[in-house]
Amino acid sequence: MTGNPNAAADFVQKAAPGFSPRVAIVLGSGLGGLADKVEPVASIDYADIPDFPRSSVEGHAGRLILGRLGGMPVACMQGRVHYYEGIDPEALALPVRMLKLLGCEILLLTNAAGSFHKKMGPGSLMLISDHINFTGRNPLIGENDEAFGPRFFSMEKAYDPTLRKHLKAVAKEMELKLHEGVYLHYLGPNFETPAEIRMFKKLGADAVGMSTVPEVLVARHAGMRVAAISNITNLAAGLGETELTHEQTLECAMLAASDLEKLTLVFLETLKRELLKAHMRSSDDGRD
Ligand code: HPA
Repeated sequence: MTGNPNAAADFVQKAAPGFSPRVAIVLGSGLGGLADKVEPVASIDYADIPDFPRSSVEGHAGRLILGRLGGMPVACMQGRVHYYEGIDPEALALPVRMLKLLGCEILLLTNAAGSFHKKMGPGSLMLISDHINFTGRNPLIGENDEAFGPRFFSMEKAYDPTLRKHLKAVAKEMELKLHEGVYLHYLGPNFETPAEIRMFKKLGADAVGMSTVPEVLVARHAGMRVAAISNITNLAAGLGETELTHEQTLECAMLAASDLEKLTLVFLETLKRELLKAHMRSSDDGRD
């Protein structure tokens, strides 16, 4: 086990006494702006959290922000680490487990991704319906920590059907086009070859990126509900006109960033109402 999620959670709890986030949000490349919308309770550098893995990638700030967003108590991760940084896969378990220990029941992940469909070009948003782990890696390999979940677990409904329904309803209400598709995790750090993209399309993927899947695996193992949205920054290799660069990823992440921010805000507001209703229903049941 790399690092102790309990020590990390204790440290964060001390920085925000009495605050318990219910939703965790991970902000991908160029999407850090949403963090500025959080009414902050505490802002903590990853460097200060015991054993917390830190990113070396530009566009990933490396800060945990606790506060309220859309009225919901949230923990917002501004930046994440990736396998291609040379990080031990097991180390990727710590942030998600820490979020679970802090009280987060829901994990909303965002990322930048390349699209396989011309109709889903740069500036589009894609709700992830399922994924293909093409990395051959998994943060859960090794001794199982029963405190978080069982050795073997299902990934059949990894991307929570109810949360997806909510997100689609919110997008429709906002008249915002929300595509839906399968995300493929490519190890990187290079962008794919056109031949790889043709193969991935045949395998059933709709978009490709270098993150998210490890966090989903750890969250599902721990019984958290997951939703994830890709911010499409480019057409994948061989499908577009321009050469792929990280600068282009960051630049094009801005195209849909404000749509994604609005969608997230309204989603959290509706989620708050739903959770409140569910809570009231369960209190009613308790009285019967
Ligand atoms: N490939 C992999 N990762 C990415 C891409 C891509 O085309 N775009 C943004 N992140």
